[in-house]
Amino acid sequence: MRTPIIAGNWKLNKTIAEAESFASELVTALADVSDVEIIIAPVFTALSRVSARLTGSPLRLAGQNCYPQETGAFTGELSPLMLKDAGCSAVIIGHSERRQLLGESDQLINLKVKKTLATSMTAILCVGETLEERQADQALDVLARQIKGGLAGLSAQQMLDLVIAYEPVWAIGTGQTASDEQAQEAHSFIRGLVAGLFNQETAEACRILYGGSVKPDNVDGLMAQTDIDGALVGGASLKVADFCRIVRFN
Ligand code: 13P
Repeated sequence: MRTPIIAGNWKLNKTIAEAESFASELVTALADVSDVEIIIAPVFTALSRVSARLTGSPLRLAGQNCYPQETGAFTGELSPLMLKDAGCSAVIIGHSERRQLLGESDQLINLKVKKTLATSMTAILCVGETLEERQADQALDVLARQIKGGLAGLSAQQMLDLVIAYEPVWAIGTGQTASDEQAQEAHSFIRGLVAGLFNQETAEACRILYGGSVKPDNVDGLMAQTDIDGALVGGASLKVADFCRIVRFN
């Protein structure tokens, strides 16, 4: 049915040389994996060199962000087209760190999603509530706003190239992962939202990843949940053995 995706978001880590050798280690260690889609997202400066290391392997390369214009006077930004040129086939969009630290709005995120899909790349749309929002019982409202905002104006056809990542902010980098039940509840809610916005078939086909302190010792329980189709991994994606164990979840 839905092919699982395990994606490593390297965030602001690794020099070009470090990223290259790490990527080569992953290619060797994961050469026999064919039933899971594997994506890695190094920093921009390492993309094209890492891309060369991935040649001939099924590992896919993703950008950690993009700007919703192809070219022009946008100092410091990168377009999906340029990420594609560097070897990427996917872009992570709307990560909570960008929403929080850089003030990205659902509207901007929606433009990035559209530009990425228009460039024939996979958009990985991140959503997730903060601890305060969860404690105030607003988690599902926040998810509804982020999903509706991020997916506004898309067609069911475009949704075929879109992946959603549910990353509760309180679970990111804290070691405090969502319980299997908490994650499943959010994923099932998100799938219901997609069904309402598009149709049941689109919702059934849409892959929804969980992110937030995914580790070798909790990945199996998370992946056993009906609506969890993969993981977006931060810290544990920076260690070859941990990331490989997560890719080889039971
Ligand atoms: P951690 O796995 O380090 O909690 O990070 C999750 C994340 O933000 C992935 O995008």
